[in-house]
Amino acid sequence: MDTAPHDDSTPGPDEGWSEDVELAPVHPGDRGGSGTDASAEGERLQKVLARAGVASRRVVENMVDQGRISVNGRTVAVQGMRVDPERDKIAVDGVRIELRDDRVTYALNKPPGVITAMSDDRNRPTVGDMVGDLAPGLVHVGRLDQDTEGLLLVTNDGELAHRLAHPSYEVKKTYLAQVSGPVPRDMARRLRSGVELEDGPVKVDSFRVVDTHAGQSVVEVVLHEGRKHIVRRLLAAVGLPVSRLTRTAVGPVKLERMRSGSIRRLSRAEVGALQEAVGL
Ligand code: URA
Repeated sequence: MDTAPHDDSTPGPDEGWSEDVELAPVHPGDRGGSGTDASAEGERLQKVLARAGVASRRVVENMVDQGRISVNGRTVAVQGMRVDPERDKIAVDGVRIELRDDRVTYALNKPPGVITAMSDDRNRPTVGDMVGDLAPGLVHVGRLDQDTEGLLLVTNDGELAHRLAHPSYEVKKTYLAQVSGPVPRDMARRLRSGVELEDGPVKVDSFRVVDTHAGQSVVEVVLHEGRKHIVRRLLAAVGLPVSRLTRTAVGPVKLERMRSGSIRRLSRAEVGALQEAVGL
């Protein structure tokens, strides 16, 4: 009979390392400071990604083995890592994935005539009418003029909305404008170097002529300004009055083939790309 006193410092075959500690020794998102073991909190990565529809748990495990998943910028090297879907930034093949289930972001193709407001006391058609009760707490991200059509984002993520609309985050917005008259050859250079408007100068990030036909041109303007009527005022100031204006992209999200008046929910990867664009 073994009568040796039990040595607490030597784990027996079934003691010591818990499965959690063995499988997830390091939590890359550990922000330190608390002294607690963050790896024991949160949810398993493969469960979170499976719930988000990325792939089955088994396939997510294979993706981990292949080094395709990162948490807070570091490639996950072990199985069973625990993450906090509220705070950790998880990317698959370098593409950030939004993991929170309670935040939704929609893209709308706003028709001309609809006002950018969630409601209107004069009963004019609004963006709020378009989204109806898709989700509580939706707000529009910035504004389009009543006559402007195209991509408008609507979200219940207040911080995302704020950052996307705020010029300091420099999110590029792309517009197609139909203008009268031929476009002078040096226009791109002129617009990139800056044009003085009554409320200060404005510069574009890029400008190109897409088409010219029968005395009209279609031009693409990219800028990260949010001032009222900025594209119309800018182009009018350089002698190109706008007869039709469509926003075709907000940062990484594109209007593409959305029909006028239609709405679609952004994918988790599209929301992740928006978050990346504004440092969230
Ligand atoms: N610039 C404009 O002139 N109008 C818009 O709606 C958006 C940008």
